[in-house]
Amino acid sequence: MNNVTGKVALISGSARGLGAETARTFVAGGGKVVVADILDEVGLATVEEIKVAGGEALYVHLDVTQESDWQKAVDSAVNGFGKLDVLVNNAGIFFTKSTAKMTLEDWRLMTSVNLDGVFLGTKTALPALKESAANADVGSAIVNLSSVAGITGAKGASAYCMSKGGVRLYTKACALEFASSRIRVNSIHPGLIDTDMGRLVIDSARGPENADRVRKAMEASHPIGRIGVPQDIANGIVYLASDDAAFMTGSELIVDGGSTAQ
Ligand SMILES: NC(=O)c1ccc[n+]([C@@H]2O[C@H](COP(=O)([O-])OP(=O)(O)OC[C@H]3O[C@@H](n4cnc5c(N)ncnc54)[C@H](O)[C@@H]3O)[C@@H](O)[C@H]2O)c1
Repeated sequence: MNNVTGKVALISGSARGLGAETARTFVAGGGKVVVADILDEVGLATVEEIKVAGGEALYVHLDVTQESDWQKAVDSAVNGFGKLDVLVNNAGIFFTKSTAKMTLEDWRLMTSVNLDGVFLGTKTALPALKESAANADVGSAIVNLSSVAGITGAKGASAYCMSKGGVRLYTKACALEFASSRIRVNSIHPGLIDTDMGRLVIDSARGPENADRVRKAMEASHPIGRIGVPQDIANGIVYLASDDAAFMTGSELIVDGGSTAQ
């Protein structure tokens, strides 16, 4: 396990799924987390579970499309834990729609959560990340959730691919922009992972009635022979957030069971 002792992380969309698993893993590595989401009840339960296990966590309501929510989330970290060392831009949405059927409203919904959310989080957290970097051995870190769909296209998911491809290159440009401030910025690219979103991906491929068949086909498309579990991705995120990744910035960590190696 990567050591993040004493580090404070703000993780967007961490009530459930990959974000929640990352919060648990970060705390297990010695850190403290701010769990932030629009799903308040689920988020509060995630925080409670971490506390019962002896960890330090707090919850804040965060809609990543709202700049004022971001300011409150960053303030929660600084006021609650004294600083902010790590931002994980994890919140995201997924839907499939052909370009012919997609409305401008659909397109803008995808952009607002998956791209505006990453931009607003990065911009708002920047002063606190700079301050903690100035006082840290290695510096501070941002980890952005892209996808294998930010590297290769996926039929029917053009808006999602657009957003995740955008996250991939926004990450590299920010890495260059913030390097002199000692803030590392990397993206992680999960393959298909068993979360609510992962199950939605399977259902969207052929409809829920064929979910078992599609799931088997998707497992087979990952050379390792299975789809991922949240821990597979949480391990990668916590690694990128830790000082073990001190020489990594502007990189893309692909964690996909070999699916894009083919
Ligand atoms: N599961 C996969 O197969 C997979 C693969 C590649 C990339 N990803 C990416 O990983 C990230 C996490 O995905 P997941 O599988 O855990 O999905 P999930 O749907 O299980 O969880 C996403 C979380 O984001 C939150 N969220 C959604 N809109 C929000 C908003 N406006 N403000 C704040 N929070 C919001 C949700 O409430 C939820 O808690 C996403 O960015 C996703 O695109 C997932």
